[in-house]
Amino acid sequence: MKNKFYVTTPIYYPNDIPHIGHAYTTIAADILARWYRFKGYDVFFLTGTDEHGKKIENTAKKYNKTPREFVDSLIPKFKEAWKKLNLNYDRFIRTTDKDHEKFVQEILQKVYDKGDIYKGHYEGYYCTECEAYYTEKDLENGCCPVHKTKIEKLKEESYFFKLSNFQNRLLEFYRENPDFISPTYRKDEVINRVKEGLKDLSISRSSFKWGIPLPFDKKHVVYVWFDALFNYYSATRDKNKEKFWPADVHLIGKDIVWFHTVYWPAFLLSAGIELPKRVFAHGWWTFNKEKISKSKGKVINIEELVRIAGSDSARYFLFRHIPFGEDGDFSENALIERHNNELANKLGNLVSRVASLAEKYGTEKTENKLLKKLQLKKIENQIENYQFDKALNEIFAFIDNCNQYVQDKKIWEMKDRKALYELKESILKIAEMLWPFIPESADKIKKQFSTKNIKKGEILFKKIG
Ligand code: MSP
Repeated sequence: MKNKFYVTTPIYYPNDIPHIGHAYTTIAADILARWYRFKGYDVFFLTGTDEHGKKIENTAKKYNKTPREFVDSLIPKFKEAWKKLNLNYDRFIRTTDKDHEKFVQEILQKVYDKGDIYKGHYEGYYCTECEAYYTEKDLENGCCPVHKTKIEKLKEESYFFKLSNFQNRLLEFYRENPDFISPTYRKDEVINRVKEGLKDLSISRSSFKWGIPLPFDKKHVVYVWFDALFNYYSATRDKNKEKFWPADVHLIGKDIVWFHTVYWPAFLLSAGIELPKRVFAHGWWTFNKEKISKSKGKVINIEELVRIAGSDSARYFLFRHIPFGEDGDFSENALIERHNNELANKLGNLVSRVASLAEKYGTEKTENKLLKKLQLKKIENQIENYQFDKALNEIFAFIDNCNQYVQDKKIWEMKDRKALYELKESILKIAEMLWPFIPESADKIKKQFSTKNIKKGEILFKKIG
């Protein structure tokens, strides 16, 4: 049987068009999916949208649409954006998909029958923007600690999930699976909070309608995070997809670690479903050193991102500029600099020099000693440990070696056909290793260098002045 690899992204709220933050996780998932596919794994790459809840209902109202009409109008924007970035996902799940809704109801019934859901009253604070509950202690001057907006106090009948019952089992699970919360520097915070004790979680609302009804009480809709988290599992209930559970990795942003490492495993434990292998949280991008904010115009959408220097350069920049896991600052200048200095001057230059020399002098088969300088094992390890910046650095160190080789061998004088063979083979290997990161350019390079008679082609990365 083939090895399998199942990677997911968060499902995004379709309350606006996607921006760089959403693109970031989805590109990371695409990189891993391409990498494992290239290694011959059976891969399932899932992304999608989180469509229920009060937040979406409110936004739809603002546009004078029903929630359904509103989300339907935004889904094509997400799909177009992902196409522009060459994201090759296997399924785009929507929480309004019938199979998902039905599945969530089945799970709710199961958890209810088990006795892990009971009826009570919720009294406390709820931030609709976060779709999260807060205690008095969490608030800052009566405002949401994340959005700094006034926060609504709720008092309503609600069903509760017995989260408090899972404290020990969660702590034991973290102990036995030390990589579950990655990078490990995010782990202590979760563990310490869980050790402080877990309160039961309100998992239903009756004051609005846009959600999945509880099968045992139709007046209530289920809390949007209960619905949303199960997307990862419900997508594998399809024919031929069962084998993909448990997920190999859920890629998420650092703001939603708690939901994924506490609520999610607790729901699964209650439902008797195997837990995912890993949750990897990345950092946040700022934009010219400021928090990305739609209202302040500090936001970069996908069209703008791709317009700067193309899709490959955007993908490259996001994963070369900072270690995956840490925060980083996005600026157009920094992207253009890397496009010019690294993609155009190093990679582009190597490809065009070698192609034109090979066109002139041809190549002659020989042992490829040059390729020994490429640290393949190391790069493989780095990619599989989410150190994408390091892997790119290593590949570009080899590109430097290749450019140096052209100089040292003075190929344009010596007409060294054997050296040209080594270079062409090395470039093909570079294209293979870069394919997960910059698929469009890598495919062009492969095509150009796989033929018998190599020809000088178009410029791969045009410099931006
Ligand atoms: N719908 C929930 C996720 C449910 S998953 C079962 C959600 N959606 S979201 O649309 O608000 O955000 C999705 C992701 O975008 C989060 O992982 C978040 O970290 C990420 N980002 C939003 N802004 C970001 C940056 N400025 N930088 C990097 N990632 C950011 O949360």
